[in-house]
Order: sequence, then C-alpha cells, then structure tokens
Amino acid sequence: MRPDACGDVERSDHPQREPPRTVARRSVLLAAVLTVSASATVATQKVFTADDLAVVERTVGTYFEAAKSQIAAQEYETAKVRLIVAREYLARSWTFWSRHARGDAAKRVTATTAALDALDDRLSEVPIDPARVQAAVHEATAACAACHAEFRVEHPASGTYGIKPGILGEHTGERGR
Ligand code: HEC
Repeated sequence: MRPDACGDVERSDHPQREPPRTVARRSVLLAAVLTVSASATVATQKVFTADDLAVVERTVGTYFEAAKSQIAAQEYETAKVRLIVAREYLARSWTFWSRHARGDAAKRVTATTAALDALDDRLSEVPIDPARVQAAVHEATAACAACHAEFRVEHPASGTYGIKPGILGEHTGERGR
C-alpha cells in the first residue's frame, strides 16, 4: 500500500475561497509601500463595520484611479505600486461581506481581486502590451461597477455612497454566519 494512500488531503483549495494572498514578489513590494503609507493601519486590519468598509472603498478608489492615471502616462512601475495597494485593501473587504452572510458580495470581491491580479500580470509582461493592459483595466473597472450596481447606493443629496438598504438585513448581529 502506498504510504500516502489515505493521507492525500487537498490543501490547495481554501474552503471559503478567500481571495488568495498575493505572491511573494507582490508582498515584498507591498511591505515597502505600506511602510510609507500614512493610512497603513487600515490595510492590516479586518473590515468589520460599515464605516470600516467605507474607508476601505475610498482607499481602493483613490489607489485604483491613481493606477489608471499612471497607466495612461505609461508609468507602469508606479502604476503597479498603486494597484497593489488597491488590491490589498479590496481583499480585506471579503471579511466584511462574509461576516454579514453575503457570500454573493464576497464572491464579487474575489472576482474583482482576480481582475486586479490579471491587470498586474499584464503590467509585469516584458515588453508591456498597452492594448492588453487597457483591456485588463476595462475588465477590472467593470468588476468594480458590477458590484456597485448590485450592492451600492448613492445618496443624491450628499453625493455620498452607502450599502443598499436591505443588503445587510438581519444578518448584522450574532446571527450572521
Ligand atoms: C463587493 C462589492 C464591491 C466591489 C467588488 C467594489 N466595491 Fe466599491 N463599494 C462597494 C460598496 C457597497 C460601497 C459603498 C460603501 C460606503 O461607502 O459606505 C462602495 C463604495 C466605493 C467608493 C465610494 C466610497 C465613498 O464612500 O466615497 C469608491 C470610490 C469605490 N467603492 C471604489 C471601488 C473600486 C475602484 C473598486 C474596484 C477596484 C470597487 N470599489 C470594488 C462595493 C464594492
């Protein structure tokens, strides 16, 4: 009998499908980025409350827009640094949706971080193909927009955003899975 016959556990598949941690090359760069980032503390915390989420989303927006500007200027290395920060912040919102039993929204987080990773891959190609980069930018932007259409509401009077009414429902307290 093979010694590993009954010990063959599938370790690669995370049961809850949390967005995968970034690979080492990104983590090293991220550590450098966060060291100089004024709001680094949020990136190292879990996202528990709606207020936490608003802060995270604003940060994702700021860094993703900055990445897009740098891409437009063909400053690809700078764009990557911005993108990594956006990606890391967004990934942390997975916990928020999961705690509130919104697996559908958590899936959107996973899909969007995957789109940001795909963009990072395009930015890591040698030589860089601007058309492929642009296509990846569009896909990532569409992933953000799809989630916003489903879960975000704009308050017209103030021009601010929130979570659509009913999305968190009763799943806000101890009952949340
Ligand atoms: C899982 C769903 C989801 C995904 C994916 C998502 N967002 Fe959001 N986003 C929200 C929700 C919900 C809000 C409203 C939260 C709030 O502001 O209270 C929001 C708010 C925002 C805001 C406004 C923040 C504010 O209050 O001023 C920005 C900017 C933003 N998102 C950018 C992005 C970008 C850029 C991406 C993609 C890289 C993205 N988001 C991906 C759900 C999502």
